[in-house]
Amino acid sequence: MPTPIVFSTPDEQRSWADDVRRQGSTIGFVPTMGALHRGHIALIDHAHSLADVVVVSVFVNPRQFNQRADFDAYPRPIDDDVQQCAAAGVAAVFAPTGAAMYPQGFETTVTAGPLASTMEGAHRDGHFDGVVTVLTKLFSILRPDLAVFGEKDFQQLAIVRRLVTDLDLDVEIVGAPTVREPDGLALSSRNRRLDATARAAARAVPRALDAAIAAARDGSVDDALRAACDVFDAAPQVHPDYVEIFDPNTLRPVPTLEGRRVPGTTRIATAAHVGDVRLIDNRDLFERA
Ligand code: PAJ
Repeated sequence: MPTPIVFSTPDEQRSWADDVRRQGSTIGFVPTMGALHRGHIALIDHAHSLADVVVVSVFVNPRQFNQRADFDAYPRPIDDDVQQCAAAGVAAVFAPTGAAMYPQGFETTVTAGPLASTMEGAHRDGHFDGVVTVLTKLFSILRPDLAVFGEKDFQQLAIVRRLVTDLDLDVEIVGAPTVREPDGLALSSRNRRLDATARAAARAVPRALDAAIAAARDGSVDDALRAACDVFDAAPQVHPDYVEIFDPNTLRPVPTLEGRRVPGTTRIATAAHVGDVRLIDNRDLFERA
């Protein structure tokens, strides 16, 4: 199991990627904030199926955190991350410092458009501007052939697709399904911060989506939203920020489910606080059983 080369500056990472490309190999890229779990590893495996070499970035991007406490509390087990990358056959890990990515004098940023105005964007001011800014830098440093993103962050995936189209970035964006715990909780780096009681309560998040999906089969948008909210109401430790049923292309709320009872047409997403940990999740409202 060869250890990946770990780069900490954009220049070193760029010249390594340039060499790889010159040798004729394609580069698959998996951007992360570290604290890797099976969800991230699934993205790495997917990238391996599509590209010759895989690069993973591990960077807790300060610009996408709207709360300092969340940034400070974000787990940073870098040695374990590099080991997991080694086991997954990753060729290089890009783990820059904040100062290397945003040196003194840094002032140019990318702004996400209307896709960022709902859901996560409405609740986390400036979050997606931070995401598209760091990804523009990462894509420019690595110039990967493709980059793999999880559907777990559905809005992020849609905004990244828009970013590469709008700015003519020459990278293929590939989406990959959400990896879950056996009880349905989506894997997340933030799950490590749940104690046993909070972990049990967090089960309400996937259950709320289950309930909405069941209610949507013959019910209305309101019936589905109410079914999700009933699950949250019965879980006193869990406080939802939003539950939204939306069109997967525009990310706009849908007024009715009539004519939409087909997979891929309608999505449901939620964000909820469990203690001081904020979790997000989403599903296809009419996914195949
Ligand atoms: P992070 O939260 O570390 O996630 C990195 C990638 O892993 C994202 O594409 C995310 O959707 C995916 N992912 C997380 N949990 C997953 C799960 N349970 N199943 C499948 N995929 C999962 O998203 C970010 O970092 C950052 O915003 C980033 C894109 C790196 C920019 O800083």
